[in-house]
Amino acid sequence: MRMRSLAFRNKAAPLAAISALCLLVLPLAAQAQQAAGGGRTDLKNGADLAKRWCASCHLVSKDQAKAIEGVPTFAELARRSDLAGERLIVFLLGPHPPMPPIGLSRDEARDLAAYIAAQR
Ligand code: HEC
Repeated sequence: MRMRSLAFRNKAAPLAAISALCLLVLPLAAQAQQAAGGGRTDLKNGADLAKRWCASCHLVSKDQAKAIEGVPTFAELARRSDLAGERLIVFLLGPHPPMPPIGLSRDEARDLAAYIAAQR
């Protein structure tokens, strides 16, 4: 009887450890997923990308001194209902002459789209 309960305990111990580990790991996994596109965006990264890749043609912020005339400003783009949300992300992921192809990752496109949307 004693041996049996001991054996039972020994089996239960790793199980308990595994469940404890799951409890630890699950929130971490959820966090990682959020960072990878679960809705959390990085506006600062979006602003950096805009300055690096778009500011040579577009007015990407209100404090930018000049851009190419006739190219829509980010504030104008932010107000376009045909370029809202997911559509803008998809647009940013594809090639679009005269814009040079810049090969954004999905995360970068999401951050950039959020930055553009914030310029209205
Ligand atoms: C070489 C200059 C140039 C660069 C760099 C550039 N664009 Fe553009 N972009 C344009 C021009 C010109 C248009 C207008 C094209 C038109 O109306 O057909 C445009 C249009 C757009 C549009 C609207 C497209 C539409 O459907 O009307 C979006 C959105 C856009 N650009 C986003 C960006 C973003 C984001 C970046 C930086 C990653 C960027 N552009 C970099 C020149 C540029």
